[in-house]
Amino acid sequence: MPERSPLVRGMRDLYAEELASIRIVESVFGDTLKSYGYEHIRLPTMERTALFSRGIGESTDAVAKEMFSFDDETDSLSLRPEGTASCVRAVIDANMYRGNQPKLWYVGSMFRHERPQLGRYREFYQVGAEAFGFNGPDVDAELIRIVQDVWERLEVNEEITLEVNSLGNTASRIRHRDALVEYLEGYREDLDADSQKRLELNPLRILDSKNEHTQQIIERAPNMSDYLDDESKRHFDEFQERLVRFDIRATMNPRLVRGLDYYTHAVFEWNTERLGAQKQVGGGGRYDGLCELLGGAPCAAAGFAIGVDRVALLRNELGLSTPSYTPDVYVLALSDDEDEYARQVAAQLRTTSSYSVRVHQGGGKVKARMRAADRSGARIALIIGAQEAASNQVSLKWLRINREQVTVPVTDLPTTLLNSN
Ligand code: HAM
Repeated sequence: MPERSPLVRGMRDLYAEELASIRIVESVFGDTLKSYGYEHIRLPTMERTALFSRGIGESTDAVAKEMFSFDDETDSLSLRPEGTASCVRAVIDANMYRGNQPKLWYVGSMFRHERPQLGRYREFYQVGAEAFGFNGPDVDAELIRIVQDVWERLEVNEEITLEVNSLGNTASRIRHRDALVEYLEGYREDLDADSQKRLELNPLRILDSKNEHTQQIIERAPNMSDYLDDESKRHFDEFQERLVRFDIRATMNPRLVRGLDYYTHAVFEWNTERLGAQKQVGGGGRYDGLCELLGGAPCAAAGFAIGVDRVALLRNELGLSTPSYTPDVYVLALSDDEDEYARQVAAQLRTTSSYSVRVHQGGGKVKARMRAADRSGARIALIIGAQEAASNQVSLKWLRINREQVTVPVTDLPTTLLNSN
Protein backbone atom coordinates (compact mmCIF):
# COMPACT_ATOMS: atom_id res chain seq x y z
CA MET A 1 0.00 0.00 0.00
CA PRO A 2 1.38 3.49 -0.77
CA GLU A 3 2.55 5.41 2.29
CA ARG A 4 0.35 8.18 3.69
CA SER A 5 1.83 11.64 3.56
CA PRO A 6 1.92 13.15 7.07
CA LEU A 7 0.95 16.74 7.76
CA VAL A 8 3.92 19.12 7.85
CA ARG A 9 4.86 20.13 11.42
CA GLY A 10 3.15 23.32 12.56
CA MET A 11 0.54 23.19 9.73
CA ARG A 12 -3.12 22.44 10.42
CA ASP A 13 -6.26 21.38 8.62
CA LEU A 14 -9.06 23.56 9.89
CA TYR A 15 -12.19 21.47 10.16
CA ALA A 16 -15.68 22.96 10.23
CA GLU A 17 -15.90 24.02 13.87
CA GLU A 18 -12.43 25.52 14.23
CA LEU A 19 -12.78 27.20 10.86
CA ALA A 20 -16.13 28.64 11.92
CA SER A 21 -14.61 30.31 15.01
CA ILE A 22 -11.72 31.63 12.92
CA ARG A 23 -14.10 33.04 10.33
CA ILE A 24 -16.16 34.83 12.98
CA VAL A 25 -13.06 36.64 14.21
CA GLU A 26 -12.02 37.51 10.66
CA SER A 27 -15.45 38.73 9.63
CA VAL A 28 -16.03 40.90 12.71
CA PHE A 29 -12.62 42.49 12.15
CA GLY A 30 -13.36 42.98 8.45
CA ASP A 31 -16.79 44.53 9.09
CA THR A 32 -15.48 46.80 11.83
CA LEU A 33 -12.50 47.99 9.78
CA LYS A 34 -14.81 48.65 6.85
CA SER A 35 -17.09 50.70 9.11
CA TYR A 36 -14.05 52.90 9.93
CA GLY A 37 -13.34 53.42 6.23
CA TYR A 38 -10.49 50.92 5.82
CA GLU A 39 -10.13 49.35 2.36
CA HIS A 40 -9.51 45.66 1.87
CA ILE A 41 -6.23 44.63 0.22
CA ARG A 42 -5.08 41.10 -0.60
CA LEU A 43 -1.32 40.68 -0.48
CA PRO A 44 0.84 37.84 -1.81
CA THR A 45 1.99 35.07 0.50
CA MET A 46 5.51 35.13 -0.89
CA GLU A 47 7.94 38.01 -1.25
CA ARG A 48 11.62 38.52 -1.84
CA THR A 49 13.55 37.65 1.33
CA ALA A 50 15.24 41.06 1.14
CA LEU A 51 11.92 42.83 1.74
CA PHE A 52 11.66 41.20 5.16
CA SER A 53 15.33 41.35 6.15
CA ARG A 54 15.41 45.06 5.28
CA GLY A 55 11.92 45.92 6.53
CA ILE A 56 11.56 43.84 9.69
CA GLY A 57 15.27 43.71 10.56
CA GLU A 58 18.03 41.20 9.89
CA SER A 59 18.55 40.40 13.57
CA THR A 60 14.91 39.94 14.62
CA ASP A 61 13.80 36.41 15.49
CA ALA A 62 11.10 36.58 12.80
CA VAL A 63 13.78 37.06 10.11
CA ALA A 64 16.94 35.49 11.54
CA LYS A 65 15.40 32.30 12.94
CA GLU A 66 11.84 31.84 11.76
CA MET A 67 11.57 32.45 8.02
CA PHE A 68 10.68 29.80 5.47
CA SER A 69 13.05 30.80 2.66
CA PHE A 70 14.20 29.17 -0.55
CA ASP A 71 15.95 30.14 -3.77
CA ASP A 72 14.21 30.28 -7.12
CA GLU A 73 16.14 30.94 -10.39
CA THR A 74 16.90 34.55 -9.60
CA ASP A 75 16.39 35.37 -6.00
CA SER A 76 15.84 34.23 -2.44
CA LEU A 77 12.12 34.14 -1.67
CA SER A 78 10.31 33.79 1.66
CA LEU A 79 6.84 33.01 2.92
CA ARG A 80 5.68 36.16 4.68
CA PRO A 81 6.16 36.16 8.46
CA GLU A 82 3.86 39.21 8.77
CA GLY A 83 1.90 41.63 6.59
CA THR A 84 3.24 45.12 7.27
CA ALA A 85 6.32 44.96 5.01
CA SER A 86 4.22 43.61 2.11
CA CYS A 87 1.57 46.25 2.65
CA VAL A 88 4.18 49.01 2.55
CA ARG A 89 5.67 47.52 -0.62
CA ALA A 90 2.22 47.38 -2.23
CA VAL A 91 1.47 50.98 -1.29
CA ILE A 92 4.81 52.12 -2.75
CA ASP A 93 4.34 50.01 -5.93
CA ALA A 94 0.90 51.46 -6.63
CA ASN A 95 1.99 54.97 -5.64
CA MET A 96 -1.02 55.00 -3.34
CA TYR A 97 0.12 57.56 -0.83
CA ARG A 98 1.05 60.38 -3.24
CA GLY A 99 -1.50 63.04 -2.29
CA ASN A 100 -3.54 60.42 -0.51
CA GLN A 101 -3.79 58.78 2.91
CA PRO A 102 -4.64 55.13 2.33
CA LYS A 103 -6.11 53.09 5.15
CA LEU A 104 -5.89 49.38 4.37
CA TRP A 105 -6.72 46.08 6.03
CA TYR A 106 -5.77 42.52 5.16
CA VAL A 107 -6.28 39.00 6.37
CA GLY A 108 -4.31 35.86 5.58
CA SER A 109 -1.80 33.25 6.63
CA MET A 110 1.63 34.16 7.91
CA PHE A 111 4.48 31.71 8.40
CA ARG A 112 7.01 31.51 11.20
CA HIS A 113 9.27 28.56 11.89
CA GLU A 114 8.58 28.51 15.64
CA ARG A 115 8.22 25.58 18.03
CA PRO A 116 4.56 24.60 17.63
CA GLN A 117 2.27 24.45 20.67
CA LEU A 118 -1.29 25.45 21.52
CA GLY A 119 -1.80 28.93 20.02
CA ARG A 120 1.57 28.90 18.24
CA TYR A 121 1.72 27.50 14.73
CA ARG A 122 4.02 27.68 11.74
CA GLU A 123 1.15 28.78 9.55
CA PHE A 124 -1.22 31.09 11.39
CA TYR A 125 -3.75 33.77 10.51
CA GLN A 126 -3.54 37.49 11.05
CA VAL A 127 -5.92 40.36 10.47
CA GLY A 128 -3.99 43.58 10.08
CA ALA A 129 -4.66 47.26 9.42
CA GLU A 130 -2.25 49.95 8.26
CA ALA A 131 -2.82 53.72 7.92
CA PHE A 132 -0.46 55.79 5.76
CA GLY A 133 0.21 59.52 5.71
CA PHE A 134 -0.99 60.44 9.20
CA ASN A 135 1.46 61.80 11.74
CA GLY A 136 -0.83 60.82 14.59
CA PRO A 137 -1.38 60.27 17.38
CA ASP A 138 -5.11 60.55 16.61
CA VAL A 139 -4.86 57.69 14.10
CA ASP A 140 -2.83 55.55 16.54
CA ALA A 141 -5.53 55.94 19.19
CA GLU A 142 -8.26 55.23 16.66
CA LEU A 143 -6.54 51.97 15.67
CA ILE A 144 -6.77 50.91 19.29
CA ARG A 145 -10.42 51.99 19.49
CA ILE A 146 -11.16 49.84 16.42
CA VAL A 147 -9.63 46.80 18.11
CA GLN A 148 -11.52 47.56 21.32
CA ASP A 149 -14.78 47.67 19.30
CA VAL A 150 -13.94 44.23 17.95
CA TRP A 151 -13.14 42.81 21.40
CA GLU A 152 -16.54 44.04 22.56
CA ARG A 153 -18.36 42.58 19.56
CA LEU A 154 -16.57 39.26 20.02
CA GLU A 155 -17.35 39.36 23.76
CA VAL A 156 -13.72 38.92 24.80
CA ASN A 157 -13.10 42.47 26.09
CA GLU A 158 -13.07 41.38 29.77
CA GLU A 159 -10.24 38.96 29.07
CA ILE A 160 -7.86 41.20 27.14
CA THR A 161 -5.55 43.87 28.49
CA LEU A 162 -3.60 46.50 26.60
CA GLU A 163 -0.02 47.60 27.22
CA VAL A 164 1.57 50.63 25.62
CA ASN A 165 5.01 52.20 25.43
CA SER A 166 6.84 54.75 23.35
CA LEU A 167 10.01 53.99 21.45
CA GLY A 168 10.37 57.66 20.48
CA ASN A 169 11.77 59.08 17.29
CA THR A 170 15.10 57.99 15.80
CA ALA A 171 17.19 60.52 17.75
CA SER A 172 15.64 59.45 21.07
CA ARG A 173 16.08 55.79 20.25
CA ILE A 174 19.77 56.20 19.47
CA ARG A 175 20.39 58.01 22.77
CA HIS A 176 18.53 55.31 24.69
CA ARG A 177 20.31 52.53 22.83
CA ASP A 178 23.74 54.01 23.67
CA ALA A 179 22.83 54.30 27.35
CA LEU A 180 21.41 50.78 27.37
CA VAL A 181 24.50 49.24 25.77
CA GLU A 182 26.77 51.08 28.19
CA TYR A 183 24.74 49.77 31.15
CA LEU A 184 24.50 46.18 29.85
CA GLU A 185 28.20 46.04 28.95
CA GLY A 186 28.83 46.18 32.69
CA TYR A 187 26.94 42.89 33.06
CA ARG A 188 28.01 41.21 29.80
CA GLU A 189 29.21 37.99 31.46
CA ASP A 190 26.02 37.66 33.52
CA LEU A 191 23.63 37.90 30.57
CA ASP A 192 22.18 34.76 28.98
CA ALA A 193 23.81 33.63 25.73
CA ASP A 194 21.06 35.02 23.48
CA SER A 195 21.19 38.40 25.16
CA GLN A 196 24.99 38.51 24.83
CA LYS A 197 24.58 38.08 21.08
CA ARG A 198 21.89 40.76 21.00
CA LEU A 199 24.17 43.26 22.74
CA GLU A 200 25.83 43.98 19.39
CA LEU A 201 22.95 43.24 17.05
CA ASN A 202 19.76 44.36 18.74
CA PRO A 203 20.23 45.49 22.36
CA LEU A 204 16.63 46.73 22.73
CA ARG A 205 15.37 43.14 22.41
CA ILE A 206 17.31 42.20 25.56
CA LEU A 207 14.58 44.08 27.46
CA ASP A 208 12.22 41.36 26.24
CA SER A 209 14.35 38.47 27.57
CA LYS A 210 12.52 35.71 29.41
CA ASN A 211 15.70 34.66 31.26
CA GLU A 212 15.22 35.23 34.99
CA HIS A 213 18.76 36.41 35.73
CA THR A 214 18.78 38.73 32.72
CA GLN A 215 15.42 40.07 33.87
CA GLN A 216 16.97 41.05 37.21
CA ILE A 217 19.69 42.94 35.36
CA ILE A 218 17.27 44.77 33.07
CA GLU A 219 15.11 45.86 35.98
CA ARG A 220 17.63 48.62 36.65
CA ALA A 221 18.40 49.32 32.97
CA PRO A 222 17.82 52.84 31.56
CA ASN A 223 14.17 53.41 30.64
CA MET A 224 13.25 54.63 27.18
CA SER A 225 10.86 57.17 28.72
CA ASP A 226 13.81 59.07 30.25
CA TYR A 227 15.39 59.49 26.80
CA LEU A 228 12.41 60.76 24.83
CA ASP A 229 13.02 64.20 23.34
CA ASP A 230 10.32 66.90 23.45
CA GLU A 231 8.71 65.90 20.14
CA SER A 232 8.52 62.22 21.17
CA LYS A 233 7.19 63.10 24.62
CA ARG A 234 4.49 65.33 23.18
CA HIS A 235 3.44 62.60 20.74
CA PHE A 236 3.15 59.99 23.43
CA ASP A 237 1.40 62.25 25.97
CA GLU A 238 -1.18 63.17 23.40
CA PHE A 239 -1.58 59.50 22.44
CA GLN A 240 -2.31 58.59 26.04
CA GLU A 241 -4.77 61.49 26.42
CA ARG A 242 -6.63 60.31 23.35
CA LEU A 243 -6.86 56.79 24.74
CA VAL A 244 -8.54 58.19 27.84
CA ARG A 245 -10.94 60.18 25.66
CA PHE A 246 -11.68 57.05 23.61
CA ASP A 247 -12.50 55.21 26.80
CA ILE A 248 -9.57 52.80 26.52
CA ARG A 249 -7.80 51.35 29.53
CA ALA A 250 -4.08 50.82 28.95
CA THR A 251 -1.08 50.03 31.14
CA MET A 252 2.26 51.67 30.53
CA ASN A 253 4.99 49.03 30.15
CA PRO A 254 8.45 50.63 29.78
CA ARG A 255 9.89 47.20 28.78
CA LEU A 256 7.55 46.80 25.82
CA VAL A 257 9.83 46.84 22.77
CA ARG A 258 8.08 44.62 20.14
CA GLY A 259 9.87 41.92 18.18
CA LEU A 260 10.14 43.76 14.86
CA ASP A 261 12.62 46.58 14.20
CA TYR A 262 10.51 49.11 12.31
CA TYR A 263 8.69 50.77 15.19
CA THR A 264 8.88 54.41 16.29
CA HIS A 265 6.83 56.33 18.91
CA ALA A 266 3.77 54.50 20.23
CA VAL A 267 3.79 50.70 20.39
CA PHE A 268 1.08 48.48 21.82
CA GLU A 269 0.28 44.88 22.63
CA TRP A 270 -2.92 43.09 23.62
CA ASN A 271 -2.56 40.15 26.01
CA THR A 272 -4.74 37.55 27.65
CA GLU A 273 -4.13 35.33 30.66
CA ARG A 274 -6.52 32.66 29.34
CA LEU A 275 -4.24 30.94 26.80
CA GLY A 276 -1.27 29.84 28.89
CA ALA A 277 2.09 30.68 27.37
CA GLN A 278 0.76 32.34 24.21
CA LYS A 279 -0.43 35.50 25.89
CA GLN A 280 -0.11 37.96 23.05
CA VAL A 281 -3.23 38.21 20.90
CA GLY A 282 -2.13 41.25 18.94
CA GLY A 283 0.37 44.04 18.56
CA GLY A 284 1.19 47.12 16.60
CA GLY A 285 2.49 50.65 16.60
CA ARG A 286 3.82 53.50 14.55
CA TYR A 287 6.53 52.91 11.94
CA ASP A 288 7.33 56.27 10.41
CA GLY A 289 10.63 55.21 8.80
CA LEU A 290 9.57 52.04 7.00
CA CYS A 291 8.26 53.47 3.70
CA GLU A 292 11.55 55.27 3.12
CA LEU A 293 13.58 52.25 4.21
CA LEU A 294 11.78 50.18 1.56
CA GLY A 295 12.51 52.66 -1.21
CA GLY A 296 9.41 54.85 -1.09
CA ALA A 297 8.97 58.52 -0.30
CA PRO A 298 8.98 59.26 3.44
CA CYS A 299 5.56 58.58 4.92
CA ALA A 300 4.21 58.43 8.46
CA ALA A 301 2.41 55.15 9.15
CA ALA A 302 0.86 53.09 11.94
CA GLY A 303 -0.96 49.80 12.20
CA PHE A 304 -1.68 46.62 14.10
CA ALA A 305 -2.07 42.89 13.52
CA ILE A 306 -4.14 40.43 15.51
CA GLY A 307 -3.47 36.70 15.88
CA VAL A 308 -6.79 35.33 14.65
CA ASP A 309 -6.11 31.77 15.86
CA ARG A 310 -5.49 32.99 19.39
CA VAL A 311 -8.64 35.10 19.52
CA ALA A 312 -10.64 32.14 18.19
CA LEU A 313 -9.07 29.93 20.88
CA LEU A 314 -9.95 32.50 23.50
CA ARG A 315 -13.59 32.53 22.38
CA ASN A 316 -13.67 28.74 22.58
CA GLU A 317 -12.06 28.87 26.02
CA LEU A 318 -14.84 31.23 27.11
CA GLY A 319 -17.47 28.86 25.71
CA LEU A 320 -18.75 31.38 23.20
CA SER A 321 -20.81 29.74 20.53
CA THR A 322 -20.00 29.43 16.87
CA PRO A 323 -22.62 28.76 14.22
CA SER A 324 -23.02 25.18 13.20
CA TYR A 325 -22.00 24.22 9.69
CA THR A 326 -24.19 21.14 9.49
CA PRO A 327 -27.08 21.47 7.01
CA ASP A 328 -30.45 22.64 8.31
CA VAL A 329 -32.48 20.64 5.86
CA TYR A 330 -31.93 17.31 4.08
CA VAL A 331 -34.07 16.73 1.02
CA LEU A 332 -34.62 13.12 0.05
CA ALA A 333 -36.64 11.51 -2.67
CA LEU A 334 -37.94 8.07 -1.78
CA SER A 335 -36.93 6.72 -5.17
CA ASP A 336 -34.89 7.86 -8.17
CA ASP A 337 -38.13 8.82 -9.98
CA GLU A 338 -38.63 11.81 -7.65
CA ASP A 339 -34.98 12.95 -7.71
CA GLU A 340 -35.58 15.77 -10.15
CA TYR A 341 -38.53 17.13 -8.14
CA ALA A 342 -36.40 16.93 -4.94
CA ARG A 343 -33.63 18.90 -6.62
CA GLN A 344 -36.10 21.60 -7.65
CA VAL A 345 -37.55 21.86 -4.12
CA ALA A 346 -34.04 22.27 -2.72
CA ALA A 347 -33.12 24.91 -5.30
CA GLN A 348 -36.26 26.88 -4.55
CA LEU A 349 -35.68 26.69 -0.80
CA ARG A 350 -32.14 27.98 -1.20
CA THR A 351 -33.37 31.06 -3.07
CA THR A 352 -36.29 31.81 -0.75
CA SER A 353 -34.54 31.23 2.61
CA SER A 354 -31.10 31.28 4.20
CA TYR A 355 -31.23 27.61 5.18
CA SER A 356 -28.39 25.35 4.17
CA VAL A 357 -29.97 22.57 2.16
CA ARG A 358 -28.41 19.26 1.21
CA VAL A 359 -30.00 16.94 -1.36
CA HIS A 360 -29.64 13.18 -1.03
CA GLN A 361 -27.25 11.66 -3.54
CA GLY A 362 -26.11 8.16 -4.25
CA GLY A 363 -29.51 6.44 -4.48
CA GLY A 364 -30.23 3.48 -2.20
CA LYS A 365 -33.24 2.00 -0.47
CA VAL A 366 -35.59 4.18 1.61
CA LYS A 367 -33.95 3.02 4.86
CA ALA A 368 -30.48 3.94 3.62
CA ARG A 369 -31.76 7.35 2.46
CA MET A 370 -33.30 8.03 5.90
CA ARG A 371 -30.08 6.95 7.63
CA ALA A 372 -28.09 9.37 5.45
CA ALA A 373 -30.50 12.19 6.41
CA ASP A 374 -29.96 11.44 10.08
CA ARG A 375 -26.16 11.24 9.75
CA SER A 376 -26.00 14.61 7.97
CA GLY A 377 -26.86 16.32 11.26
CA ALA A 378 -29.79 18.17 9.63
CA ARG A 379 -32.70 19.20 11.81
CA ILE A 380 -35.39 18.45 9.28
CA ALA A 381 -35.80 15.98 6.43
CA LEU A 382 -38.01 16.91 3.49
CA ILE A 383 -39.37 13.64 2.23
CA ILE A 384 -40.59 13.39 -1.30
CA GLY A 385 -42.49 10.33 -2.53
CA ALA A 386 -44.57 9.83 -5.67
CA GLN A 387 -47.63 11.36 -4.01
CA GLU A 388 -45.82 14.53 -2.93
CA ALA A 389 -44.23 14.91 -6.36
CA ALA A 390 -47.59 14.54 -8.09
CA SER A 391 -49.29 17.16 -5.91
CA ASN A 392 -46.50 19.73 -5.51
CA GLN A 393 -46.16 18.95 -1.84
CA VAL A 394 -43.43 17.92 0.61
CA SER A 395 -43.47 16.01 3.87
CA LEU A 396 -41.50 17.40 6.80
CA LYS A 397 -39.94 15.02 9.28
CA TRP A 398 -38.23 16.43 12.36
CA LEU A 399 -35.06 14.44 12.96
CA ARG A 400 -34.00 15.75 16.39
CA ILE A 401 -37.29 16.25 18.22
CA ASN A 402 -40.42 14.23 18.70
CA ARG A 403 -42.99 15.85 16.42
CA GLU A 404 -45.56 14.55 14.04
CA GLN A 405 -44.66 14.48 10.36
CA VAL A 406 -46.66 16.97 8.25
CA THR A 407 -47.29 17.33 4.51
CA VAL A 408 -47.57 20.86 3.11
CA PRO A 409 -47.68 22.51 -0.33
CA VAL A 410 -44.19 23.51 -1.54
CA THR A 411 -45.27 27.16 -1.54
CA ASP A 412 -45.91 26.95 2.22
CA LEU A 413 -42.52 25.41 2.95
CA PRO A 414 -40.61 28.59 3.98
CA THR A 415 -43.31 29.63 6.48
CA THR A 416 -43.68 26.12 7.87
CA LEU A 417 -39.93 25.89 8.38
CA LEU A 418 -39.83 29.33 9.95
CA ASN A 419 -42.58 28.42 12.40
CA SER A 420 -40.92 25.13 13.26
CA ASN A 421 -37.87 26.61 15.08
P1 HAM B 1 3.43 40.56 15.74
O1 HAM B 1 3.30 40.96 17.17
O2 HAM B 1 4.69 39.93 15.33
O3 HAM B 1 3.15 41.86 14.89
O4 HAM B 1 2.24 39.57 15.35
C1 HAM B 1 0.89 39.93 15.61
C2 HAM B 1 0.16 38.77 16.27
O5 HAM B 1 0.24 37.59 15.49
C3 HAM B 1 0.74 38.35 17.61
O6 HAM B 1 0.31 39.22 18.63
C4 HAM B 1 0.17 36.95 17.78
O7 HAM B 1 -1.15 37.02 18.31
C5 HAM B 1 0.09 36.46 16.34
N1 HAM B 1 1.17 35.47 16.11
C6 HAM B 1 2.47 35.71 15.91
N2 HAM B 1 3.16 34.56 15.74
C7 HAM B 1 2.24 33.56 15.81
C8 HAM B 1 2.32 32.12 15.70
N3 HAM B 1 3.46 31.49 15.44
N4 HAM B 1 1.15 31.41 15.84
C9 HAM B 1 -0.03 32.03 16.09
N5 HAM B 1 -0.14 33.38 16.20
C10 HAM B 1 0.97 34.14 16.06
C11 HAM B 1 3.15 41.90 13.52
O8 HAM B 1 3.12 40.93 12.81
C12 HAM B 1 3.11 43.30 12.96
N6 HAM B 1 3.07 43.21 11.49
C13 HAM B 1 1.94 44.08 13.50
C14 HAM B 1 1.84 45.47 12.94
C15 HAM B 1 1.05 45.88 11.92
N7 HAM B 1 2.55 46.52 13.33
C16 HAM B 1 2.23 47.56 12.59
N8 HAM B 1 1.34 47.20 11.73
